[in-house]
Amino acid sequence: MTFNSVEKAPFAITTPLYYVNGLPHIGSAYTTIAADVVARFYRLMGHPVLMITGTDEHGQKIQRTAEERGVSPQAHCDEFVAGFERLWDLLNINCDRFIRTTAPRHQTIVNEFFQRVWDRSDIYQGQQQGWYCVSCEEFKEERDLLSDRRCPIHTNKPVEWRDESNYFFKLSAYQEQLEQLYAERPDFIQPEARRNEVLSFVKRGLQDFSISRINLDWGFPVPTDPGHTLYVWFDALLGYITALQDPNETPSLERAIAQWWPIHTHLIGKDILRFHAVYWPAMLMSAGLPLPERVYGHGFLTKDGQKMGKSQGNTLDPVDLVKRYGADAVRYYFMREIEFGKDGDFNETRFINLLNADLANDLGNLLNRTLKMAGRYCNGQVPTVDPQTILADHPLRAIGITLTETVPTAYSQLAFSQACTAVLALVQASNKFLDDQAPWSLYKQGKQAETEVVLYAVLESVRQAAYLLSPVIPSLSNQIYAQLGLTADFDAKALGQVLNYADQVRWGFLPPGQPLGEAQPVFQRLELPEPVASP
Ligand code: MSP
Repeated sequence: MTFNSVEKAPFAITTPLYYVNGLPHIGSAYTTIAADVVARFYRLMGHPVLMITGTDEHGQKIQRTAEERGVSPQAHCDEFVAGFERLWDLLNINCDRFIRTTAPRHQTIVNEFFQRVWDRSDIYQGQQQGWYCVSCEEFKEERDLLSDRRCPIHTNKPVEWRDESNYFFKLSAYQEQLEQLYAERPDFIQPEARRNEVLSFVKRGLQDFSISRINLDWGFPVPTDPGHTLYVWFDALLGYITALQDPNETPSLERAIAQWWPIHTHLIGKDILRFHAVYWPAMLMSAGLPLPERVYGHGFLTKDGQKMGKSQGNTLDPVDLVKRYGADAVRYYFMREIEFGKDGDFNETRFINLLNADLANDLGNLLNRTLKMAGRYCNGQVPTVDPQTILADHPLRAIGITLTETVPTAYSQLAFSQACTAVLALVQASNKFLDDQAPWSLYKQGKQAETEVVLYAVLESVRQAAYLLSPVIPSLSNQIYAQLGLTADFDAKALGQVLNYADQVRWGFLPPGQPLGEAQPVFQRLELPEPVASP
């Protein structure tokens, strides 16, 4: 894939809108970090970017949680939303819109959308019978349930029988159009394994799904029949549209889709694939709206190889993790360690070893020792070498050139681990180059020019590495740039306009003779917490 200055299409990306029945868990943090990395990468490339996250606040699950806590659903949501906002701050998530589905402007969009679907005669009243999982907010087919009628995802929760009058969306009418969509746009659902899951689900034949509930107050009333409440998923998916509009404008569907629609990427976990890859496109077809570019279903996280859950008592608190190790460390671990799309594991020893190896030793020490040498041998300045005399087949420059192709491709395909590994290969090659060339001994032998060429090549490689890793470890990249004497703010919203991509990936951006900053460790080695002494 090539990127050039003409291709600067608006790029909108979403995380799921998280349920506020509890505090955010590591699963929510994982998707949000990934979305933030992609958004930062597109900003780096100079695209106008809108990154959307938010909270899903209606429905039975939230209503029940609030009742159990003895507070009103709205008060409950207001309290828990704050926990999400706080975590996104701690994790350095640079989002552009935070949508709450209880926002009054959202109701306007929902009503307008409902009307469009209603006018297409895709909504009718019927009787819904079936097993409902409140935790999933989804009807389950009997054959998918575990013994004792438990939900396969929420294994400790029995499903509940429902037999009620609901409004239905005519999903079955979109069977052919959906099959055509998947055939014509093989990249619509990613990765491949998720696409295959959806194809086989759709092949079994689509059934209409109910989009309203009775005996539930916490939600928007069905516009045509206020005795019914809209199904939480119908309302939640539309949050993606509401989020597109500036919250200060008068809400309208037409205006909401004017600038950013269609959304480019919906990032989700694999458990909510059907809603995004089947129901959502059908709803959009019914409303006459173009479809998003791709739906990407990532895998699930486990801890020490075990499924995480409150009942297993092995949850991983993202706030605690960030407070102990810092945002860049957490971001780097999840992006580098887990192949996006596959299930992945968190293990604290592995976490510490990986960060110490990659960020403290390979990257941090490389910068530190090279800066110190430049301090001693080059007057604390970038060596005064004409970068163009370092030829394209120079071992480090050659790697740098390939990275300018492979790394953007990896980010755009959400292959985060590959992007990180590729950049780390340059860092590792730079360490080896330094050891092989031994500029300290070149200097002692009075070979000033050779010393400077070696140090320039390494400093420039560190700069390229910091630039290309900035979507993952923005604070570290800011620090590295500062120590190289460069001004950069990798958190800037208009990043691509401030730092031109083509300039940054060009070999030799680091200006010869420029004063360098003070050498300070950018990443402190991490230590495993002391084991709690047994009595
Ligand atoms: N509210 C719906 C989404 C509506 S989008 C219009 C919802 N919310 S959720 O809070 O339950 O889940 C949010 C995301 O967390 C899902 O993408 C889910 O896959 C993800 N995860 C939940 N547990 C997870 C792990 N253990 N690992 C990784 N992600 C997991 O569903």
